[in-house]
Amino acid sequence: MNGESAPGWPNDAVRRIAAANNVLVLTGAGMSAESGIATFRDAQTGLWAKFRPEDLATPQAFHEHPRRVWQWYDGRRQQVAAAEPHAGYRVLVELEKRFRHFAIATQNVDGLHQRAGSQRVFELHGNIMRTVCAQTGRPIDDEWLCEHPGEPPPSPYQPGVLARPDVVWFGETLPEGAHRAAVRSAAQADICLVIGTSSLVYPAAGLPAIAAERGAMVIEVNPDETPLTASADVIIRAPASAALVALASHLGH
Ligand code: OAD
Repeated sequence: MNGESAPGWPNDAVRRIAAANNVLVLTGAGMSAESGIATFRDAQTGLWAKFRPEDLATPQAFHEHPRRVWQWYDGRRQQVAAAEPHAGYRVLVELEKRFRHFAIATQNVDGLHQRAGSQRVFELHGNIMRTVCAQTGRPIDDEWLCEHPGEPPPSPYQPGVLARPDVVWFGETLPEGAHRAAVRSAAQADICLVIGTSSLVYPAAGLPAIAAERGAMVIEVNPDETPLTASADVIIRAPASAALVALASHLGH
């Protein structure tokens, strides 16, 4: 363990988790950081420290510079394809089997929860590995993309329309089904475990408050302070993998 001690979890938090029926986990880019995928807002290493979101992650940017936006997402897709879920993801897979209702609402677009084996995952901001028609939002399959290369490729559905990544850009609404399911899970949660998010981007950042209103214990796992810290019931100041591995051992997994 390189001389580092495992992050401690307060006994009352472990007891509440062990007795819980309904658990909602909310994850952000910090969950994927140890799998080698850059976060957005960390100083130096965060994507928004190097790029301006309005140049790359808005419908306007895609309209004006489709090639630049497509190429940026292509680079991120390659990073995601090369990444492997770390030990913390496998802990969440095991925890899902333990509780009556267990769901992950993720702001991440990398699909790592599903690749690790988590079943109930609500993708609040889409998935970078999927491609859709920029006009209709209909899915475009890999076969079409292979046969029609381009930066971006054309949409199969409408002449003159382009394909785009199936992600939520600034100014766009969240996928309705995923958002509704996440709100429902938050409203029923006994435990809301918030891992690796700056808690700045709404509506995702509003989920812990919904859970807290119904009496859930809100637990923040993050090496740094966030706007959620002041209202969280429990704060684990540690990276996601170490915190989750320690939790699993407290729970006897
Ligand atoms: P951010 O980059 O805003 O925040 C990442 C958080 O992870 C920070 O609070 C870090 O302190 C924390 N962190 C870093 N390393 C960590 C580790 N190893 N373990 C645990 N936590 C760690 O990312 P998000 O909160 O996910 O939206 O950002 C929210 C949304 O803003 C993203 O989904 C994206 C972005 O613009 C869209 O693309 C629509």
